[in-house]
Amino acid sequence: MSESDRQKIEQFRKDIQRHDHLYYVKDQPEITDREYDRLMEQLKQLEAKHPEWVTPESPTQRVGGAPAEGFDTVVHKVPMLSLDNTYNVEELRDFHKRVVKNLGTEEIEYVVELKIDGLGVSLTYKNGKFVQGATRGDGKTGEDITANLRTIKSIPLTLAGKFPKELEVRGEVYMNRKGFEKLNQQREKNEEAPFANPRNAAAGSLRLLDSRITASRPLDIWVYNVGYFEGPAFKSHFEMLEGLREFGFRTNPSSRRCQSFEDIEKMIGEWQGKQATLDYDVDGLVVKVNAIAAQNKLGSTNKHPRWAAAFKYEAEEAETVVEKINVQVGRTGAITPVAELTPVFVSGSTVSRATLHNEDEITKLDVRVGDKVVIIKAGEIIPKVVRVLDRDRKGRKPKFKMPKTCPECDSKIERPEGEAVWRCVNAACPAQLKERLLHFASRNAMDIDHLGTAIVDQLVDTGKVKSFYQLYDLKLEDVSSLERMAEKSADNLINAIEKSKQAGLARLVYGLGIRHVGQRVAQVLAQTYGSMDTLSDAPYEDLEAIDEIGPKIAESIREFFDEKHNKKELCKLKQHKLVMIQGQKAGGGNLSGKQFVLTGTLESLTRDEAKRKIVEAGGRVTSSVSAKTDYVVAGADPGSKLTKAQKLGVEILTEKEFQKLI
Ligand code: IVH
Repeated sequence: MSESDRQKIEQFRKDIQRHDHLYYVKDQPEITDREYDRLMEQLKQLEAKHPEWVTPESPTQRVGGAPAEGFDTVVHKVPMLSLDNTYNVEELRDFHKRVVKNLGTEEIEYVVELKIDGLGVSLTYKNGKFVQGATRGDGKTGEDITANLRTIKSIPLTLAGKFPKELEVRGEVYMNRKGFEKLNQQREKNEEAPFANPRNAAAGSLRLLDSRITASRPLDIWVYNVGYFEGPAFKSHFEMLEGLREFGFRTNPSSRRCQSFEDIEKMIGEWQGKQATLDYDVDGLVVKVNAIAAQNKLGSTNKHPRWAAAFKYEAEEAETVVEKINVQVGRTGAITPVAELTPVFVSGSTVSRATLHNEDEITKLDVRVGDKVVIIKAGEIIPKVVRVLDRDRKGRKPKFKMPKTCPECDSKIERPEGEAVWRCVNAACPAQLKERLLHFASRNAMDIDHLGTAIVDQLVDTGKVKSFYQLYDLKLEDVSSLERMAEKSADNLINAIEKSKQAGLARLVYGLGIRHVGQRVAQVLAQTYGSMDTLSDAPYEDLEAIDEIGPKIAESIREFFDEKHNKKELCKLKQHKLVMIQGQKAGGGNLSGKQFVLTGTLESLTRDEAKRKIVEAGGRVTSSVSAKTDYVVAGADPGSKLTKAQKLGVEILTEKEFQKLI
């Protein structure tokens, strides 16, 4: 019986791996998402039955694990060099001339490929299994980000084909533009700072301590090189790319062999401006001598290989005119100046607005209405004004002045010391209110269908809704009297509002729009406290002791619940019978709601494994001991946490006792 489960597990893993490869690497799926989900579900069930058979290479392990405390350092067996940059054809020709001179022949074959604008990583496989992934770091040592890399579906966890005994491959992790935009939209909704460009987003995602969050980020990889390996060598770079493809890696299809410098020039011409047609950022081309023997003969300096060079395109710029400078009011009252431009085509799309960020930026640029400006769109999705062209022209319009009051509600605006942003102080500012209501109703919050911009605008403008709870006071006749509202739609809206009362604690906490509380933090809070009442009473120290919550978030949560208006809001929502209790606390396992602190070294399992087990059983791990701590697990050489636990009378578990408990 068991033996057949074992075989089934192996078969499911093989099948899923094959479908992952077809979907994520070859872009040729053979089964529907549904069928794929079923396979995964079946594997998960079998693994739940036999947890001892779960290996890190199982496709179920791509979801990420409990947060790490930091990254270990990895020494690269073969240094990860960087490329020498060239910025025009002449500089690149100089590189070619040096290669010709050093090799003593004019007949050199190159491979030209895209230079992906992401983050260089190294992936190590032993006996075909992915064992370690690292950042480039300073080239000699990087950081161990295995757990994060494992979540990227196009990185094979086991190799296919005739792979060498040990293999270290190198590639670039990146985020495509669509994924980046979606992530930023979500971040803005959650009041998290958006990433400046896809590269930063990829880098940030790879450096998260919680690999579960990395798993939710749309990351991908192009693999382009081999570092250390034990096994038969490749004869050429092109052959190596083919080999890597065979082992299951994703290699970029644009790589071409070039027999002459003219061929290279042709490719440079072809890609000029064509980069925008890709759905990911490229910051140039890489030219590599193809034959490995020739590469070895050329060797490297201590920084760059002499057999390769990067060719960088200048970031695309365009000229246009500032027609107007507007200011926008966001959900938190932040007032952002925006330049409205004469539409201009740059890097693949028409641009008609560019953010001016804040007052200081405008002062720095000295940009005014009517100015001819240069805008740049280099990787960044939101275009930037980089300089003013006709500043010395006569009859220039006066300097832009930030409004003295909120452009929406005329209330006072404030710029807190040390901050660059002006904010409207009126919590009831209609612009803010509208944004807040839209957030409250959004898909990931209370999910109130039919409550879109047009309706929210009218509800606020007619004074029918001034806070969240008033949505629940709305009667059919209030809604059907709105413009362009058919009877049926009014009915639908009222039903959707009613239904949202069941959304649950986590969605409600998120929907309230507490600064710095995104979806994930809201979930953690709901799981930890179980009810709005307990959460709203949680002292600052308690909040801050939660792993995912730092001082800034804790402070903002406290501030929110201490505010008089918010107290009233919650009280009213309660009267309307919104669900304010977590249905199932923290997974509902046998450690449901229990708080753990780990100290010292455990013998039978790593800290991450211990954490995972606690979380899986419904418990929580915090970093410091407080009166709220239920258990301190003490391994060898425990630290001050043990003393503190003794002082507070917290129950202390040995590793054995802990094992028994879980
Ligand atoms: S080859 C020794 N190929 O650019 C050869 N690098 O400044 C070094 N990069 O650190 C790498 N696309 O992260 C190579 N097709 C490509 C690349 C590429 C992007 C990155 C890589 C490297 C940096 C070099």
